[in-house]
Amino acid sequence: MDHTTLPESASLLPDLYGRPQADRFMRHLTAFGDRYTPALGSLGLRRSPRLPEQPRSLPALVLVVTGHRPVAEDVVELRLADPSGDLLPRWQPGAHLRLTLPSGRERHYSLCGDPADRRSYRIAVRRLPDGGGGSLEIHDELHLGVRLTVRRPRNGFPFCGEQKLLLLAGGIGVTPLLPIAREAGRRGLDWHLVYAGRSAETMPFTEELRALAPERVSLLVGRVPSGAELLERARPGSAVYCCGPAPMLSAVQRALDASPAGALHFERFAAAPIVDGKPFTVQLGADGLTLDVAADRSALDVLREARPDLPYSCHQGFCGTCRVQLLAGTPDHRDRRLTSEERADGALLPCVSRAAEGEHLVLDI
Ligand code: FES
Repeated sequence: MDHTTLPESASLLPDLYGRPQADRFMRHLTAFGDRYTPALGSLGLRRSPRLPEQPRSLPALVLVVTGHRPVAEDVVELRLADPSGDLLPRWQPGAHLRLTLPSGRERHYSLCGDPADRRSYRIAVRRLPDGGGGSLEIHDELHLGVRLTVRRPRNGFPFCGEQKLLLLAGGIGVTPLLPIAREAGRRGLDWHLVYAGRSAETMPFTEELRALAPERVSLLVGRVPSGAELLERARPGSAVYCCGPAPMLSAVQRALDASPAGALHFERFAAAPIVDGKPFTVQLGADGLTLDVAADRSALDVLREARPDLPYSCHQGFCGTCRVQLLAGTPDHRDRRLTSEERADGALLPCVSRAAEGEHLVLDI
């Protein structure tokens, strides 16, 4: 989508945390998740083509691990298949899976295989020693034959099929871009992928990408590229698809105005940055501990210091895994998941939601 196609009302869109804002970035933003986009749709913005949403009542899948192998330093590739060999539900480039691990942890991973292969789903997982244990469990405890509950593919980063594409990958952020690159090649589109990583050994799928079209893949190894450098290959009107760590996304965002690129689609895989945070307190139960939440920390991070088993997944306010019940206090809801009814009933997602300065939230945990 070219940002010029957006109506003026787009500047009144809420930001990623539900607050009004007139950020230029939002004028470029075209994709940030199925749960983020209803607000865009209601404003008449063009939606990305995608498969019809799966009704929430469709049962989750039980899949078996049929492949588990290292594909780069600290990165394993997992293949998941139906235990009976049945064909798996279809998906489109950019889609992700939500896995429920044997421990009960839930994690989201982009599908990085070929949508034409309906016999297995492929994901890749980087080992994150301080990432809450999900990646360690996948690396160390998931073996061939283990069965997992997996929600059907959802697409939070849909590929719109623009004619000119610049794909920007940072580290494991290459995973959703690999099927997008493959699809772009199939359609004969003009695409280029810039893939940045801290060393060649840590960058999965480089050979597979080169095999698609070596002249269309640029590797930036061992340094952090600037936004301008990442956008260097953008042609006038190119749609930019970016997936990587938060600093990379911010760098691209800042450099966008000076580039000839058009739309920006992005997927973030780290916790959302805290914007305009103020300190407040949370209390664990009516008679429990009171904890300070500093302006630059999430309530979830603070709560997990006292309750390390508190579940979470996306850390971005869209999956709902960290949901807690509010007993007292006035929250500042910044998620994109809860309905107004759920909020009125006291539901709260502490990974992103906060409170006004000095507010005291009592939680039923
Ligand atoms: S962890 Fe996903 S909504 Fe909080």
